[in-house]
Amino acid sequence: MEMDSPLAAAYWQERYTTGRTGWDAGAITPPLREYFAQLGPSDNRRILIPGAGRAYEAEYLHRQGYENIFVADVAPGALAALQQRVPDFPAAHLLLQDFFRLPAEPPYDLIVEQTFFCALAPARRPAYAQHCASLLRPGGTLMGLLFDTDFGPVTEPPFGGSREEYHAYFAPYFDFRHFETAYNSLQPRQGRELFICLKKK
Ligand SMILES: C[S@@+](CC[C@H](N)C(=O)[O-])C[C@H]1O[C@@H](n2cnc3c(N)ncnc32)[C@H](O)[C@@H]1O
Repeated sequence: MEMDSPLAAAYWQERYTTGRTGWDAGAITPPLREYFAQLGPSDNRRILIPGAGRAYEAEYLHRQGYENIFVADVAPGALAALQQRVPDFPAAHLLLQDFFRLPAEPPYDLIVEQTFFCALAPARRPAYAQHCASLLRPGGTLMGLLFDTDFGPVTEPPFGGSREEYHAYFAPYFDFRHFETAYNSLQPRQGRELFICLKKK
C-alpha cells in the first residue's frame, strides 16, 4: 500500500479510532520546544506541519502567538483532536490533505517534521525531500526530527533509516545547518533520532 493513497487515509484514521497511536508523545517534544523558544517573538511566518497528527506543535506555536500555522493530515480524527483542544485554532488552517498534493503557492517559511517522514513508505523519501523544497521559499527552513535507527524488517510504520541515507535525499535542495543526534530527545528516543535544520537553497 502506498502510504499516501486513499487507502492510507483509512489506515491512519483507523489507527486513531482504535487508539494504536504509539508515536503520539501527548505533548510537543523537547527538541522542537527548545528550537521554537529560541525563535524570539512570534511573527507572521507561514509554518506548515505535515502529517501533524494531533499537532501539539501547532498548539504550542498558536499559544505563542503565531497566526499562520497550517497543519496537514489525511486522518480527520487527528485534525479534530487539535480543534477540540484548541477551539480558536483557525479552521481554515486545518488541511485534510495528502502532503504530496499540497500546493506550493504561497510558499512556506518553515516546515516542521515530527514522525511524519518515518510514517511514509521509504520509497517516498526522495519525493518528500523534493516536495518540502518546493513548498518552501528560498532560504526557508525544514526542521525537526528523523529517526536514525533500524526498526528491523517491519511492514508498518515507523520505518527507520540512517543519517547517511537521509543526507542523500536532502542534499540536492538544502544547505545543512544541523543534522546531528538530538541531545534532548524524549527518553525512549534518546540517541535514536537526528535533529535537523535545513535551509532551502
Ligand atoms: C506517525 S503519525 C505522526 C503524527 C504526529 N506528527 C505525531 O508525532 O504525533 C503520522 C501521521 O501522518 C499522517 N499521514 C500519513 N500519510 C500522510 C500524507 N500522505 N499526507 C498527510 N498526512 C499523512 C497520518 O494520518 C498520521 O497522523
